[in-house]
Amino acid sequence: MAKVKSVFVCQNCGAQSPKWMGKCSSCGEWNSYVEELITSGNSSVQANYKRSSKPEKITEIELHQEQRIVLPDQELNRVLGGGLVRGSLILLGGEPGIGKSTLLLQLAVRLKNLKTVYVSGEESGQQIRMRAERLNSDLHSQCYLLTETSLEIILQHLNALKPDMVIIDSIQTMFHSQIESSPGSVSQIRGCATELLRFAKDSGCPVFLVGHITKEGVIAGPKVLEHIVDTVLQFEGDRHHIYRLLRSHKNRFGSTAEIGIYEMQGNGLAEVSDPSQIMLSQREEALSGIAIACNLEGMRTMLIETQALVSSAVYGVPQRSTTGFDQRRLNMLLAVLEKRCGFKLGAKDVFLNITGGLKVDDPAIDLAVICAILSSNNDIPLEQLTCFTGEVGLSGETRPVSRIEQRIKEAEKLGFKKIYFPAQNLAAFDRGMFKHIKLYPVERVDEVFSLLFG
Ligand code: TYD
Ligand code: MG
Repeated sequence: MAKVKSVFVCQNCGAQSPKWMGKCSSCGEWNSYVEELITSGNSSVQANYKRSSKPEKITEIELHQEQRIVLPDQELNRVLGGGLVRGSLILLGGEPGIGKSTLLLQLAVRLKNLKTVYVSGEESGQQIRMRAERLNSDLHSQCYLLTETSLEIILQHLNALKPDMVIIDSIQTMFHSQIESSPGSVSQIRGCATELLRFAKDSGCPVFLVGHITKEGVIAGPKVLEHIVDTVLQFEGDRHHIYRLLRSHKNRFGSTAEIGIYEMQGNGLAEVSDPSQIMLSQREEALSGIAIACNLEGMRTMLIETQALVSSAVYGVPQRSTTGFDQRRLNMLLAVLEKRCGFKLGAKDVFLNITGGLKVDDPAIDLAVICAILSSNNDIPLEQLTCFTGEVGLSGETRPVSRIEQRIKEAEKLGFKKIYFPAQNLAAFDRGMFKHIKLYPVERVDEVFSLLFG
């Protein structure tokens, strides 16, 4: 058997040390040492990667269409770029309790006619069956459950079963006996992922890995895991809300711009195919501090409600708190309002909430955030059926957004009467095509203020 030794390697400069060190003595980076294993002799991982290879002309490489399994889940198909590619290794990350196991188990039990194996290192077979029955009342016999954490045993079973799809829940619970560190450690995660990668490529069977997320929001384990896999998906949302977003951070077989949207229900995750309105709360009267943003998440337009509360600071240091929005960005927008438009918000508490529990990515939400803050500060409600889109720059100017036409079209379709957007976007489309929505191109934030509050 190959002899296994581990060393600590600086992830910044590659220096090695037999012991962990807080600061790298060669490059000076802090907290960059990660335990890695070195195998002397003929490691199984290395041995199998030594195949004969020779340089070939790029024009002479044979092209064949990658084979995709079309899944019974349109949102997942969309995020993966049109189905699951055979032999691919996919990492699904997310906070505990967000629904990773549910999403994949649901996929395994609904994928009829294909042999699927769901390997769990966290739950018992009974627990999983009970959950599976809730997800799909008529279970098919081609779905296998394996409660095991030893990777060698799992691979033996997989090689015997020859499944069409494998789910490993979770990669942090798996261990390989050749690696002498505890499950969940950097070496174990990397070793197991590499073995599973080899299984996927050799057998052509796609493998899903579930990965936990640490407090800082990164997938626990080394960054290298993201380099090993073909696709990195992230499942996001607020556990107390029903909506979940599936984003792709890396995809070797498709675009990363698409997102999938789900609703957590009593019997699993339901796909949301028309998401534009889900984030709006329908109410009769207008309230101050609320502005609607016309955002683009992935390739899809969503109207998102932003709520702000501005009040005099009770304590000496004013509080700034956000949910679903980057707090540093809020601080920047407040500084812009203060410096460029003369609003004295320095002594005020500002709370910002993006309803629905989603984290937004699109900077076009800035304009709505600013309008919600101004509306709350002046205690004047904004007109209903008005929406905003536009990024705000440091000098208080609005910056153009992508796909303006698509955004206005969606707002018009949903019955909005007015839309404020960056004036620079005017050149990108024909104003005449929108008959039922009034367009307000704006160049600066103070201009929006005078248009809204006179
Ligand atoms: P789970 O898939 O176990 O999360 P993860 O694997 O990411 O840790 O999902 C856990 C939550 O989902 C749990 O708190 C209950 C909720 N849930 C539903 O609301 N409906 C359902 O049908 C299922 C199976 C779970
Ligand atoms: Mg789970």
